[in-house]
Amino acid sequence: MLSLFKRPKSESQLIIREAKIKDARGIIKLLNSVGREKLYMVSESFNWTEEEERQLIKNLDRTKDLILVADYGGEIVGCLTLFRYYGGRSPKVQHIGEIGISVDARFRNMGIGTKLFEEAINWAKSRGYEKLSLSVFSTNEVAIHLYKKFGFVEEGRRKKQFKIGDEYVDEVLMGLFL
Ligand SMILES: CC(C)(COP(=O)(O)OP(=O)(O)OC[C@H]1O[C@@H](n2cnc3c(N)ncnc32)[C@H](O)[C@@H]1OP(=O)(O)O)[C@@H](O)C(=O)NCCC(=O)NCCS
Repeated sequence: MLSLFKRPKSESQLIIREAKIKDARGIIKLLNSVGREKLYMVSESFNWTEEEERQLIKNLDRTKDLILVADYGGEIVGCLTLFRYYGGRSPKVQHIGEIGISVDARFRNMGIGTKLFEEAINWAKSRGYEKLSLSVFSTNEVAIHLYKKFGFVEEGRRKKQFKIGDEYVDEVLMGLFL
């Protein structure tokens, strides 16, 4: 267990910890619900079975790849992935970790994203990563605020890379040197 704190509104405890195999269902449920919002992720449904997620967690190289969950009384309400860039498939990318994050809509703006980032950045430093990177829609003000809070800076922008309904959205590429 990486850290523990209590949410003010409830007796239940929110725990930030590494994912276990039994979390597979909850992670998929969370990612599907965020995908269905259609505002934040390219995928609108998580095309991945529970069994595939179980295998991913089971076979994770925990020296280099991380899946963190926010466990609220047994429910997975947040998830952060930190994987070697390009799947770690080349010596050229071993120093870079790519981050993805989702928090259940009912639990946003309560500091869960911040907690997940704190843990992930400390973990990445301890594993010898030199840089973290991610990409985000230009319309995602909350996420961009969160990333900047941790020192991420915009490194590039792919103009009108996505279209959400009738609105064109830029892909903002962000990075943090550790
Ligand atoms: C982005 C996301 C992970 C953040 O998680 P979270 O638990 O809500 O984050 P926190 O509560 O720790 O922090 C939210 C911050 O955004 C700020 N914020 C809230 N509304 C905002 C707005 N409209 N514009 C800018 N900042 C805003 C909050 O004040 C807080 O900042 P602070 O800590 O400096 O006060 C979450 O909103 C989410 O899952 N969104 C949908 C999925 C997503 O966007 N994933 C990332 C795709 S790249």
